[in-house]
Amino acid sequence: MAGMFRSRVAGIGSYLPEKVLTNVDLEKMVETNDQWIVERTGIERRHVAGPDEATSDLCLVAAKRALEDAKINVSEIDMIIVGTVTGDHQMPSTACFLQSKLGAKNIMAFDVNAACSGFVYGISIADQFIRSGMYKNVLVVGAEVLTRYMNYKDRETCILFGDGAGAWVISRAENSEKNLIESSHLHADGNLADLLILPGGGSKHPQSQEVIDKGMNYMTMKGREIFKNAVRAMAHSCQEALEHNKVSPDQVDWVIPHQANKRIIEAVADQFKFPMERVIVYVQETGNTSAASIPLAFDWAVQNGKIKRGQTILLTAFGAGLTSGSVLLRY
Ligand code: UT7
Repeated sequence: MAGMFRSRVAGIGSYLPEKVLTNVDLEKMVETNDQWIVERTGIERRHVAGPDEATSDLCLVAAKRALEDAKINVSEIDMIIVGTVTGDHQMPSTACFLQSKLGAKNIMAFDVNAACSGFVYGISIADQFIRSGMYKNVLVVGAEVLTRYMNYKDRETCILFGDGAGAWVISRAENSEKNLIESSHLHADGNLADLLILPGGGSKHPQSQEVIDKGMNYMTMKGREIFKNAVRAMAHSCQEALEHNKVSPDQVDWVIPHQANKRIIEAVADQFKFPMERVIVYVQETGNTSAASIPLAFDWAVQNGKIKRGQTILLTAFGAGLTSGSVLLRY
C-alpha cells in the first residue's frame, strides 16, 4: 500500500427518499408478517424512490451534502465514482448524469458494478488515485433504486431491499494528518455469481416480452446460500483488515458491516467478539440498500453522535458477484 500521498474522509452525506414502505404495508402485498421480517432480518421499514426519482437524483442530494460537509466546491472535484447496480440507464454511467447535475466540468466519471460492495470498491479506487498523486479530491457515491427490480410477489426478496444514497469526499491528506484511510482489501468469487442475479435485460437475455413473462426482469436470490457466504466473506474481510494493520478487535471503535440482515451482522460480530454496542446497525430503517448501505449507516451514526472524528472504523461489505471487501480508516 506504499504511495506518495495518503487520503482521508473529508466529508460525508446521505439521502433516503421520503416514501416509506413498512412491514405492515408488505403484509397487504405478499404473504408475510411484521414479526417474521423483524425476527429473521431486523428490517422494520425501507424507503422507496418516487416515480420521478432516478438513481442520479438520489446521488445528487447525497453528493451535495458530502461536498458541503467537506467544505469544498464542485470545481475542486477531480473524479466521480458511483457504486450502483441500478443506474439511471444501462448506458451511459450514472456517474456521468451526476457529473452533469452537479455542474462538474471535464473530469473523469464512471460507475462501479460491485453490487453491495460497490461503495467499498469505490473508496479503494479513490484511495489508489490519491495515493499515486494523480488526484486530490474524489467524490464516491453508493446509490441504488432497487425497488424498481423487486418482484412484489416474491416474499423472499421483496421484503429485503430499499432505495437510498450515501456519498463521501475523499481528499489528499496533509502530511501531519492522522485521520487516514489505512487499508482496503477487495475480493470477488464469480463462480457463485448465479446466487444473486438480475437475469434479464443484459446481453445474455436482452429485454423482451419473454424475459418479462418469465419474471427475469426482477432480482432473484438463493437466500440461505447468500446468507452463509455473506457471513464467511465479511468475517474474512475483517480478519484480513485487522491482520494487515496489526490492529486487535478492541482497538476498533466501530464496525460498519453491509446492512443486509441483522442476523448476518450479529454472526460476523460474534466471530471477532466485537460487542454489538460497537457495531452500527441501521438495517431496521433502510432494508438492504446495496451500495448505499454503508455510507447511509455511517452518516446516521455520525448524526446520532455514535461515530466521532479520530475514531478507528472498520467497513466490511459483501454482495452479488460474489464481491466482498473491507476498508479500515481513522475518521
Ligand atoms: O446483500 C446481500 C443480499 N442478500 C442478503 O444478504 C440476504 C441473505 N439471506 C437472508 O437474509 C435470509 O436467507 C432470508 C431473510 C432471505 C430468509 O431467511 P431464512 O432464515 O434464511 O429463512 P429460510 O429461507 O430458511 O425460510 C424459512 C421459512 C420458509 O418456510 P418453510 O419452508 O420453513 O415452511 C420460508 O418459506 O420462512 C419462509 N419465508 C417467509 N415467511 C414469511 C421466507 N420468506 C418469508 C417471508 N415471510 N417474507
